[in-house]
Amino acid sequence: MRMYDIITKKRGGAALSEEEIRWMITGYTKGYIPDYQMSSFLMAVYFQGMTDEETAILTDAMAKSGEQLDLSGIPGVKVDKHSTGGVGDKTTLIVAPVVAACGCVVAKMSGRGLGHTGGTVDKLESIPGTRTSLSGEEFLDVVRRTGIAVTGQSPNLAPADKKLYALRDVTATVDSIPLIAASIMSKKLAAGSDCIVLDVKTGSGAFMKTPEDAVTLAEKMVAIGVHNGKRIAALITNMDIPLGYQIGNALEVEEAVRTLQGQGPADLTEVCLALAAQLLYLAGKGDLDYCRGLAQDALKSGAALEKLAAMIEAQGGDAECVRHPEKLGRAPFAMEVKAEKSGYVTKMDSAGIGIAAMLLGAGRETKESEIDPLAGIILSKKTGDSVKKGETLATLLTSDEAKLEAAKERFLEAVETGAKAPQKKPLIFARVTERGVE
Ligand code: URA
Repeated sequence: MRMYDIITKKRGGAALSEEEIRWMITGYTKGYIPDYQMSSFLMAVYFQGMTDEETAILTDAMAKSGEQLDLSGIPGVKVDKHSTGGVGDKTTLIVAPVVAACGCVVAKMSGRGLGHTGGTVDKLESIPGTRTSLSGEEFLDVVRRTGIAVTGQSPNLAPADKKLYALRDVTATVDSIPLIAASIMSKKLAAGSDCIVLDVKTGSGAFMKTPEDAVTLAEKMVAIGVHNGKRIAALITNMDIPLGYQIGNALEVEEAVRTLQGQGPADLTEVCLALAAQLLYLAGKGDLDYCRGLAQDALKSGAALEKLAAMIEAQGGDAECVRHPEKLGRAPFAMEVKAEKSGYVTKMDSAGIGIAAMLLGAGRETKESEIDPLAGIILSKKTGDSVKKGETLATLLTSDEAKLEAAKERFLEAVETGAKAPQKKPLIFARVTERGVE
């Protein structure tokens, strides 16, 4: 078999055989197929797509390219969630402890921030002492002891995805539906949970710019999950506006804790309750309404917050920072961004705001960049709010004063004001299950 022939076949729009896909993924993972040939193949997929069957085989080959977690020795229903990435998206820090407090077992591997989007691992690391590169044994031990662990991805989990993702990131081939579906689902299958809820973001800050594309991606991932015996559902949620009011690592932990204390912003609380209810439903805890009630009770009683504190402690972190998030500290430099005219906030481009947060130090400009855990943005206004000239739109925070000006400019580019209030968009557009789209 030759990679040249596989590239030619895909470039012409033909479907690859199972043998070809498995040969290619093994060869690429082992380093026999060079990056330049794989780049060419990825671009061919970008333009020609893949059939559902090809996507399912690709996912399976990637999932089996490294270790596969065996959670069968841990009693209880194992659940996992995945977000396709957003700005201000701290849902894992809330949904995971909520469902753990309701009796599900959460054994979750999370990623770092990517481009303008944040990552759970970076957020957890803003809590002093928290370890996010647990060995397989340590990870399972924390899960057994506390019912919940969130760690960085083990280097040997779906290594084909790790190599492919890095290549896609620099060859403009990230936003291809079959490639995203295979990337996400290969990791979910290798991570071994029984139930999976997917939060597929749509809007300016998401890979999927329209709800229609988000539904197509969700349908493909749900089909792959069902084919592999998983209980799985996806929610299509709005990423035209950042989720909540705080963007940045420690800032998001603080807002997540407030949400776990029942005092979170309405949009964040709603998305988290919806995701938690879906997971509890998939785990067989009752119908959706009942499961939503269970999730609400876990917030009200403080049980979810205590689960997060127990997990942080078990992973070496300072649980007091969860109970008293002000202990996380504040960045030494702050700048208020004022509205330049009166009216309504008509647009808050999430991607632009994510980039402004990154410029402050909350994300990485290059793979080598160091994160500033205290950097980020606190929004005072969001899309639809009325605003007066000179009123504060947001506060920028950083440990490096020199970063404030550029971030302010980028922030202001992302925000539009107008005379008329914009039409409100739904927070949750649809739910996708094996029964279809609702
Ligand atoms: N997240 C992933 O893990 N993979 C993608 O391809 C896109 C988002």
